Amino acid sequence: MHKLWHIFGVALSFMALGFFAHAAQAEDARLRAVSADPATLRMAQDAGRKASSFCVNCHGSNGVSKLADVPNLAGQNPDYVLVQTRKFGTGERKDPFMQGLIKALTEEEKIQIALFYASQNPRPGTPDAGRVASGRQVFLKHCERCHGERARGNETIPRLAGQHEEYIVKAVTRYRDKSGERQDPLMSSAVASLKNVDIEMVAAYLNSLP
Ligand code: HEC
Ligand code: HEC
Repeated sequence: MHKLWHIFGVALSFMALGFFAHAAQAEDARLRAVSADPATLRMAQDAGRKASSFCVNCHGSNGVSKLADVPNLAGQNPDYVLVQTRKFGTGERKDPFMQGLIKALTEEEKIQIALFYASQNPRPGTPDAGRVASGRQVFLKHCERCHGERARGNETIPRLAGQHEEYIVKAVTRYRDKSGERQDPLMSSAVASLKNVDIEMVAAYLNSLP
C-alpha cells in the first residue's frame, strides 16, 4: 500500500513540474512577443510603470533602490527578472515579503514590470579605488565567464553592473553557504572557494561598473 502511495506521489510531482514548465514556456514566449514590436513594447513598459507603483517603496523610483540590501532593478535583464518572480512564486527563492507580494501580480503584470525596469537606467556607485582594483581580479578569475566582460549578463544571467554592494554580498554569501534562500548549482560552485574578503572586493568592483 505504501508503495502505491509513493508512486502516486511521484506521478503528482511530475504533473506539477510539467505544469510549471509549461507555464514558464508560455511566459517566456509572451515576453518575446511583446518585445518584438516597438509599439507593443512601449505600451507594456507604460503599463509596467503603473503596475510597479507599490514596488517603488523599496526598489526606488525607476528601479534604483535607496536601500542597500534591496536590489536595483533598473537595467536588469527582463528574462532574469521574470525567472526570479517565478522562483519567489514557487518558494524556490525565499524572501518572506517578496514571496507574498509576487502572488498578487498577474502573469501579464510580471512581464510588463520586467520590461519597464529593463528600460530604466542603472546608477553605479563610487566605491574606494583600491577595493575596486582588487575586486576586478576576483571578477576576472571567477565571474566573467558567465556574467560577461562588463558584468551585464544575458538572457539567463543577471546584470551585476551598478548593483548595491551590500545586496551582492548578501546574495553571493547565500549561494556559497547554501543557506537555502537562493538555489542555483552553477552559482554555488562558482563561488564555493571565495573568502568573505573576496566577496566584499568583488561587490565594490561590480557596484562601480556602468
Ligand atoms: C518591502 C520592500 C519591498 C517591496 C515593496 C518590493 N520588494 Fe522586491 N525585493 C525586496 C528585497 C529585500 C529583495 C531581495 C530579496 C533577497 O535578498 O533575495 C527583493 C528582490 C526582488 C527581485 C529579485 C531581484 C534580483 O536582482 O534578483 C525582484 C525581481 C523584485 N524584488 C521585484 C519586485 C516587484 C515587481 C515589486 C512590486 C510588485 C517589489 N519587488 C516590491 C524588497 C521589496
Ligand atoms: C557558471 C556561471 C556563473 C559564474 C561563474 C558566476 N555566476 Fe553569478 N549567477 C549565475 C546564474 C545562472 C545566476 C542566477 C541564479 C539564480 O537564478 O538564482 C547568478 C546570480 C548571481 C547573483 C544574484 C544577482 C541578483 O540580482 O540577485 C550574484 C550577486 C552573482 N551571480 C554574483 C556572481 C559573482 C560575484 C561571481 C564570481 C565570484 C559569479 N556570480 C560567478 C551564473 C554564474
